Amino acid sequence: MKNYLVIGNPIDHSLSPQLHNYWLKKNNIKAIYNKEKLGINELENLILKIREKKINGVNVTIPFKNEIINYLDKLSFEAKSTKSVNTIYLNGDEVTGHNTDIDGFECAIKDAKFDISNKKVLILGAGGVVPSIIFVLNKLKASQIMLCNRTRAKAENLKNLFKNLIVLDWGEMPEFDMIINATSVGLKAEDEMKLDFSKIGKNKFFFDIIYNPKETNFLKIAKKFENKAENGKKMFLHQAAAAFKIWHGIKPEINDEVIEILDK
Ligand code: ATR
Repeated sequence: MKNYLVIGNPIDHSLSPQLHNYWLKKNNIKAIYNKEKLGINELENLILKIREKKINGVNVTIPFKNEIINYLDKLSFEAKSTKSVNTIYLNGDEVTGHNTDIDGFECAIKDAKFDISNKKVLILGAGGVVPSIIFVLNKLKASQIMLCNRTRAKAENLKNLFKNLIVLDWGEMPEFDMIINATSVGLKAEDEMKLDFSKIGKNKFFFDIIYNPKETNFLKIAKKFENKAENGKKMFLHQAAAAFKIWHGIKPEINDEVIEILDK
């Protein structure tokens, strides 16, 4: 029986086990996928277990996507470009880190049939998943990538990775075609994004990384002002599917039954 794991801190909220175990069963693969809350001093031992083949693959979530890199032998181009790893596997005898959040975000945008090329995009937040988002926006040739974060220094830091990033003050509301909520504001139903959206006009694309709750206040505002709204569910499903493909060689199906798993 092969062993897979998602690690993070906190980790209770993660729906990765339900999703991966569903796909494992569907594809008759003898393996199990669990979740584990780890402390930073436990990362080294975790990687040792991958080397010893006691664990066959790991997904990494907040707050370890960057920290874990210190313990890996090799990074994919995507992981290197974003300094962010969410999927680990043993390739020969090298413990290798890859970033499937990139695939996840790119596929979600494509599913939403939104053409990024030559569009102005505003990102709110500078947390763990933001480098992956910027990587995709560059790949799909956005004309301007603007970002604001409550703590400006964290936004400025991202310029080391992405020279073309335009950092704005938190609260600034420039003209944009697409806006992405990559903050944790909205995880609690009552959370309100304290920004003024009243003058932005309509027909913009509001994308929220959050998928639970299904409709954050950010997405409610989007609809109120006649904008397109999409939550992070597809992004989550596609990043998981890409990790599954790496570990098992099979691209799992994303159908209505799978989408329902996340609605529970
Ligand atoms: P991490 O920062 O550890 O990677 P994250 O959940 O990926 O965690 O990121 C949380 C993001 O939500 C950060 O950009 C955070 O802003 P700060 O860098 O200023 O902490 C943002 N965030 C959290 N609460 C917020 C709030 N009440 N208003 C605005 N932004 C908030």
